[in-house]
Amino acid sequence: DTIFVLNGPNLNLLGLREPEVYGHDTLDDIAGQLEDRARALDCTIDMRQSNHEGHLVDWLHEAQAKGARAVIINPGAYTHSSIALYDAIKAITTPVIEVHLSNPHAREAFRHVSYVGRAARGTVAGFGAMSYTLALEAAARL
Ligand code: DQA
Repeated sequence: DTIFVLNGPNLNLLGLREPEVYGHDTLDDIAGQLEDRARALDCTIDMRQSNHEGHLVDWLHEAQAKGARAVIINPGAYTHSSIALYDAIKAITTPVIEVHLSNPHAREAFRHVSYVGRAARGTVAGFGAMSYTLALEAAARL
């Protein structure tokens, strides 16, 4: 079973970007952690990152078309603005889990609204890189 792990804008800079907020792990480090855990859970990770909203929409459609078991998505700032991502998640039957490294509810008011969260099956936020592995545990059990 394949689980798509989609990452949105600025997450390519993880490890360098505001480490006091997002931690020192790079996206490659997180991919490695997920692959280790995925082996034990008998599933495969397809990890991607884009700074472009439309790519994330296309990949959600692809997850459905390819019969992915689930999608784990950190939409970055598109979380708080993207009706296109909300609609794409609504348009597919593949379960989608929203993840965040930080806890957006403990931050600026503009991060308190999540369009993605309204459409997602569930959300894991605030645990740094561990948010992803916790989401994987859930995805493998759906
Ligand atoms: C984030 C939280 C968002 O508010 C922010 O725009 C990001 C990262 C997180 O993982 O904590 O880019 O999604």
